[in-house]
Amino acid sequence: MVFFVTGGSRGIGAAIVLEAVKAGHDVAFTYRGGADAAKSVEEQARALAPERKVKSYQLDVKSSADVERVADQVLDDFDTVHVVVPNAGININNLVVRMTDEEWNDVIATNLTGAFYIARQFLSTMIGNRFGRIIFVSSLGAGGVSGQANYSASKAGLIGLSNAIAKEYGNRGITSNVVSPGFFDTDMTREGMSESNKDFWLKHCPQKRIARPEEMGGIVTFLASEKASFINGQVIGVNGGLDWAP
Ligand SMILES: NC(=O)c1ccc[n+]([C@@H]2O[C@H](COP(=O)([O-])OP(=O)(O)OC[C@H]3O[C@@H](n4cnc5c(N)ncnc54)[C@H](OP(=O)(O)O)[C@@H]3O)[C@@H](O)[C@H]2O)c1
Repeated sequence: MVFFVTGGSRGIGAAIVLEAVKAGHDVAFTYRGGADAAKSVEEQARALAPERKVKSYQLDVKSSADVERVADQVLDDFDTVHVVVPNAGININNLVVRMTDEEWNDVIATNLTGAFYIARQFLSTMIGNRFGRIIFVSSLGAGGVSGQANYSASKAGLIGLSNAIAKEYGNRGITSNVVSPGFFDTDMTREGMSESNKDFWLKHCPQKRIARPEEMGGIVTFLASEKASFINGQVIGVNGGLDWAP
C-alpha cells in the first residue's frame, strides 16, 4: 500500500514512516523546514527496504493550497494513496489568560485545520478506490492539560473530525481512527514539556518510563492493515497505562 505521512522528518512521524517501510509499504512523507532530517529518514528507509519507494515533500499543512499541490504531486508520483496519517503537530504553551491570538491560531491551524485539509484532500482518491485508512495523531492532551489549552482543543477536535469521517465514509470502505500518544521522547517533549509534567508522568505512568517513537509505528501499520478492517471511529491510547495529565 501507499502511505502518506505528514511531519515524517522527525519523532513519531519518522518512526511511522520507517515502520511502514519495514512492513512492506511505499511511503510519501512531508516535512516543514527540516529538509536534511527528511533526507536522513529517506536514507534510513532505503537502508531498511531498498525495494520500497520513499519520497519526502516540503509542506506547511496550514496552507490548503499547498496541501492540494503536494497531494497532486504525490498522486502523480505514487499513482494512489491508501493510508493517510496527518501527524504533523506543534505546541506553544501558555496559560489561557496570557495566550495570544497567534499562539491559539498557530496551534489550531497546524494540528486541527491542517489535518482536516489533508484528510479532505485524499478522501476523493479513497472514495474512488473504495478503500482508505485515515489515522489521526491526537494526544492524551485531548482531555485538557494545564498550560496547553490551544493544544488540548486541537487534539480534542481531531477526535470529532475522525468520528465524523468514520460515519460519512464508513460505507465506502474507508475507516478513520485516532491514535492518542502519551509521553514520547521527541523534540516536542524535550523542548515543550514542563519539568513538573515530566515528573508527574514518571511517577504515575504504570510503566515508569517515557515511550520511544518506534512504539507508535506498529499500531499505525496495524490500523492500516486488513486485520483492522472493522475498527472505525475509535481512539487508541498508546500511553503505557496513563491517559491523564494535570
Ligand atoms: N511526543 C509526544 O509525547 C506526543 C504526545 C502526544 C501527541 N503527540 C503528537 O504526535 C505528533 C508528532 O509529534 P512529535 O513529538 O514527533 O513532534 P516533533 O518531533 O516536534 O515533530 C513534528 C513534525 O511535524 C512537522 N511540522 C510541524 N509543523 C508543521 C507544519 N505547519 N506543516 C507541516 N509539518 C509540520 C515537523 O516538520 P519540520 O521538522 O520539518 O519542521 C516535524 O516533522 C504531533 O501531532 C504531536 O502533537 C506527540
